[in-house]
Amino acid sequence: MSPVSVSTVHADMAGHGGPVRALAVSPDGNGLLSGSFDTAAIRWSLETDTAEQVLRYHADAVNAVAFLKDGRIVTAGADARIAVWMTGRPQPERVFEGHVGPIVALAVSPDGACLASASWDRTVRLWSLSDGTSRVLEGHSQNVNGVAFSPDGKSLVSVGYDLTLRIWHLPDSKPDIITLPAPLNAVAVAPDGEIVTGAVDGMLRMLTADGKISGEVAAVTTPVVAVTISADGTLIAAAGIGGTVAIVDRKSRSLLRTLIGPGLPVWSVAFLSYRETLITGGADGKIRRWNARTGEPNTVPSGKSADPLAAYAGDHGAEVFRACVACHTLSDKEGQRAGPTLAGLYGRRIASLPDYRFSDALKTMDIVWTPETVAKLFEVGPNSYTPGTKMPEQRIGSAEDRRALTDFIGRATSR
Ligand code: HEC
Repeated sequence: MSPVSVSTVHADMAGHGGPVRALAVSPDGNGLLSGSFDTAAIRWSLETDTAEQVLRYHADAVNAVAFLKDGRIVTAGADARIAVWMTGRPQPERVFEGHVGPIVALAVSPDGACLASASWDRTVRLWSLSDGTSRVLEGHSQNVNGVAFSPDGKSLVSVGYDLTLRIWHLPDSKPDIITLPAPLNAVAVAPDGEIVTGAVDGMLRMLTADGKISGEVAAVTTPVVAVTISADGTLIAAAGIGGTVAIVDRKSRSLLRTLIGPGLPVWSVAFLSYRETLITGGADGKIRRWNARTGEPNTVPSGKSADPLAAYAGDHGAEVFRACVACHTLSDKEGQRAGPTLAGLYGRRIASLPDYRFSDALKTMDIVWTPETVAKLFEVGPNSYTPGTKMPEQRIGSAEDRRALTDFIGRATSR
């Protein structure tokens, strides 16, 4: 594997075949989880910008993702299920069932023992991560859109479309109920306990830990879809439907800037813990880094060494292959990524590499990879051509792009 760039510029992370609905940064700051409308979750290395694992289990959009303290991963979906995964395993280790509507947000308690989930079934559930038992917190009269724990873990905050923010004092289940002027879409809690909620009127509202309104900022002009707070508590990022991402200074309650650049609108936002870097999950399926101080994208100008396709500058097929490079290497000398290496692809039978763990469904298929079969794979999409595949659904609409891609693969992968 080529040496990792030490600079702070990076390429976009392309892997999902649909909008990136959820993001979570690992506790050590080196890993990222993303969940998408394409029904997949992806575990990324933030050091190499490569996809390390595709997690496919959910039957519908993956709306929420989280890292647990013990290294496990949680995904939750519009299929009302929560899946708990051991890193590297192809199937979830446990599945929590109970919700009867889409799950849209997750929060892990500070001690790592419980998980809270918010659902459009109008309930919040509190799950024990050791035995999977759950308690139902009822009261919201419409979709619950967000949950967050207080830093001491003694209370849980939920927000919903019913205009209410509820502070549940655990383990008791009678909440304080605060009614706000607009339906609520997202919530986050700062390290000092202050609550920040984002509403459909584009406002961020701040509340003290005991529920007194303590501030507000007009962040965006459209409904807020996602809110996150930097690890040091100073910055808030809020994404609005339609494309604006606002960076707000929490102490002074002021709008510092809005992001400018490609890749908007976004569906999800997360700060990296140790840098002033914001990560966004785009409607175009791409994950991008931004400098939260300048509002500018943090990407590699093409041709820089951190770009794995730099050697192919100007090659249209290589540009199309940018949709693949996070998951597939072109040479078997490079380390394993989320997908099998494409080295020596043409002439190879599907799912025949001995050192990659393919989905069982692929092993019985009668496909040999050629420029024609690879083109077909992306003309009709992996879900139809290779049903049961882990590869996120994606299609390449233009015959010319498919041809450029298959020519490029032929040139770049022959041994
Ligand atoms: C997010 C990760 C990801 C992206 C992006 C991705 N793939 Fe895949 N791909 C996979 C995974 C995972 C598999 C293995 C599927 C399985 O076992 O279910 C796979 C399998 C394949 C296979 C079958 C290989 C074999 O040995 O049978 C081909 C061919 C392939 N991908 C080509 C591509 C191309 C070309 C692109 C870009 C247009 C692409 N993939 C984008 C993850 C990805």
